[in-house]
Amino acid sequence: MAAVETDSKAPFSLDSYHVSEELGFILPEPLKDLPPYYKPWMDIALRVPELVQSHELRSHINQMPMLSSKFLQKHRELRLAHLALSAMTMGYVWQEGENDTVETLPCNLAVPFWEVSQRLGLPPIFTHADGVLANWRKRDPEGPFDMENLELLVSLPGGDSVRGFFLVTLLVELAAVPALRSIPTVVNGVGCGDTEAVARALENISQSMEDMTDALKLMQVHVEPAVFYGIMRIYLSGWKDNPSMPKGLVYEGVQTEAMEYSGGSAAQSSLLHCFDELLGVKHEEKSGAFLTRMRNYMPPAHKQLIQDISLQPSLRSFVQQQADERLSQAFQLCVTRLLTLRSYHINVVSRFITVPAARARQLRDQSRDLEEEMISRAPTALEERGTGGSGIMTFLKTVRDQTKDAFLPETN
Ligand code: HEM
Repeated sequence: MAAVETDSKAPFSLDSYHVSEELGFILPEPLKDLPPYYKPWMDIALRVPELVQSHELRSHINQMPMLSSKFLQKHRELRLAHLALSAMTMGYVWQEGENDTVETLPCNLAVPFWEVSQRLGLPPIFTHADGVLANWRKRDPEGPFDMENLELLVSLPGGDSVRGFFLVTLLVELAAVPALRSIPTVVNGVGCGDTEAVARALENISQSMEDMTDALKLMQVHVEPAVFYGIMRIYLSGWKDNPSMPKGLVYEGVQTEAMEYSGGSAAQSSLLHCFDELLGVKHEEKSGAFLTRMRNYMPPAHKQLIQDISLQPSLRSFVQQQADERLSQAFQLCVTRLLTLRSYHINVVSRFITVPAARARQLRDQSRDLEEEMISRAPTALEERGTGGSGIMTFLKTVRDQTKDAFLPETN
């Protein structure tokens, strides 16, 4: 995407970055259906869990007509098409588990998926922008934006836990909206030396970060660790650095060489990337490289926002220069809350991945009940790895600990 044109005198604003005033990075009012021509896609996409369960998804997709993507015009049509085609792709690749994957995605799926991806600037795989940002509807359109009133448009195997996983993540995105809205105030306040405005905006940001951690706590209410670990996780996995798909995936009709893409992960959410750039959190080489690569899995306008925040004069230096107590405290509180959010996230990952992984190893040779059966059959190749293909705990703890380096040297 071309760089967003900025007039250096114009105040910094979110207008050109596809960020909604009420919903932040969440796609407002996603479409629930595509034009009738695309019925063959939607008929399958809406049945992915059931067709995977009956081992029929691959044959349904193989028989699907080759449709042209050219009748998709609006952004929201393209987003729903990407969501539908990416869910079908995950089901197609992983239908038979980690030991019977495919090397080729058939052209009737691969070609339109590729074209839609090119037009959106997204990779041809299921991303956070699909499963979370563009995958919701309200049951009662006038009702609240909460767990009771929200539903997914497209699902993956895992039943209620899939719903819980994507919708809780959506609520984390929603909780971050006041923080996002405050970013221009911070940037512009630094630009014109308005200490008080910056302090107030940082206070809003820290409150919003606390609300994000609270929203993340809902994960344990709405998602079962055994289902997440034993069933869902493989359908979020990609074909990069994945021993189950060492060669990657050939997108038939697109190019003959296989391509590699990471799986869906909230590391692809633009939120923490924005906060890191704003607060001056720097990541060391390896984890930094992974996080930077994840930016290619975001809608291009959101990636551009992160980039443009990184180009602004340093907030941290401004806070140090001003030596204003309220401002310094507000800044420190933001770093503290970001640290708390990352620590709580590590806790979640431990509950949903590390603990079930240990149990799976232990149970593999023992008799089991249903829950244990689910855990023990979980893909072994994913045990030590995140869905994005990183060594999970080392990576997350490094990223968390680097957040601490953003603290100002002396605190009161
Ligand atoms: C059951 C819930 C969750 C699990 C099991 C989980 C798991 C993981 C894993 C394994 C990683 C390592 C990178 C990768 O493999 O892709 C990761 C990274 C990350 N996750 Fe989650 N995650 C969960 C929910 C969330 C939610 C709701 C958010 C909030 C938007 C989030 C935000 C992040 C971020 C920002 C990273 C990158 C590391 C960082 O910046 O600290 N995760 N997650």
